[in-house]
Amino acid sequence: MTENILVTGGAGFIGSNFVLDWIAAGLGPVVNLDALTYAGNPENLATLEGDPAYTFVHGNICDAALVERLLAEYRPRAVVHFAAESHVDRSIVGPEAFLKTNIDGTFTLLRAARSYYDGLVGEERERFRFLHVSTDEVYGTLTPEAPAFHEETPYAPNSPYAASKAASDHLVRAWVHTYGLPAVVTNCSNNYGPYQFPEKLIPLMISNALEGKGLPVYGDGKQVRDWLYVGDHASALRVVLERGRIGETYNVGGGNQRTNLEVVTTLCELLDELVPQSKFRPHQQLVKYVTDRPGHDRRYAIDARKLEGELGWRAQESFETGLRKTVEWYLANAAWVADVTSGAYQQWLTKNYAARTTLAAGEGAR
Ligand code: NAD
Ligand code: TYD
Repeated sequence: MTENILVTGGAGFIGSNFVLDWIAAGLGPVVNLDALTYAGNPENLATLEGDPAYTFVHGNICDAALVERLLAEYRPRAVVHFAAESHVDRSIVGPEAFLKTNIDGTFTLLRAARSYYDGLVGEERERFRFLHVSTDEVYGTLTPEAPAFHEETPYAPNSPYAASKAASDHLVRAWVHTYGLPAVVTNCSNNYGPYQFPEKLIPLMISNALEGKGLPVYGDGKQVRDWLYVGDHASALRVVLERGRIGETYNVGGGNQRTNLEVVTTLCELLDELVPQSKFRPHQQLVKYVTDRPGHDRRYAIDARKLEGELGWRAQESFETGLRKTVEWYLANAAWVADVTSGAYQQWLTKNYAARTTLAAGEGAR
């Protein structure tokens, strides 16, 4: 076995942050298998071009022969599995791709990893890990007063995305219990930070505000998410990979519960401050309430005490410092945004937003 790790979906938002941090920390070579869907962008990893510690493989996790070949050729000490269809709104419009990648793709990886693991002996076998990166959305929704999701919270996925991730988590669990695959699962809350595709709340609001476009808040905007800075997520994954117990689940959260409206308001204030010459100030005037997402989960919140107590992980960023860094990154990387939002992304905007009516004053902000 080598010091290599095999990462899937490393050209996406969290994967690319993880790979950049991993290589910067000198933790060993990375092989990145990514299909480069609309969400994958090799530009995220452009600084690694020519770096002997980084190998990019353009391919699909559903391609069993390719996955088997990569495991045999690179003999990784771990598989870190990010690749997924990840956007709830897209899963509502077209669930097929979610079932294919998130369920079939995870199954393909598990089957190949099991056969690779079965061929390992001694220390190599002791060391091998399969880290499955999942979401808190598998737990469903919380009422305002309910305690945060913990590792024993029953699964109750509500969107096609969440259902497909829940299915993949169950497959991983079954491969641990039935075949003894040394896998660990993490379920994390909403991430934010550099390289997030502007279909998700925070980068969408930043890029719309900079262009003076409306800021489409779904429903009443009082849904709560628990925001985690992507660099803190990457550090949690490193700790879980090194010291997490086989067959265990670890919840990862930033301890930052905010309503969507609070997030958008804070973003508008940051943009007012950081772009004083903008003709769209105050950016808050761009907020518009639009038709809600069907089946919209009301609240997510993570109890990360297991990860903190058992593995000593702590989030380093507060929501204020993380959000400021994020806005500054998007301001400094307008060319990246322009690049990823050209072409097919425009069709998605029409599909998702043209059908939503703008709600009359008071209708959304109930
Ligand atoms: P993303 O959509 O930004 O990136 C997904 C990456 O996977 C892209 O590079 C894409 O090209 C690649 N990919 C998609 N289908 C593939 C396939 N069939 N084969 C190979 N590569 C494929 O996603 P993200 O936000 O970086 O999320 C990464 C993981 O973390 C996902 O598993 C997601 O469910 C989970 N997660 C994300 C969040 C979040 O807030 N973003 C929160 C909790 C969990
Ligand atoms: P999103 O970033 O899509 O993540 P998730 O659905 O996985 O939580 O959305 C975060 C929250 O923001 C969610 O409650 C939906 C809401 N939202 C809007 O109000 N307007 C938008 O245009 C988008 C994309 C999301």
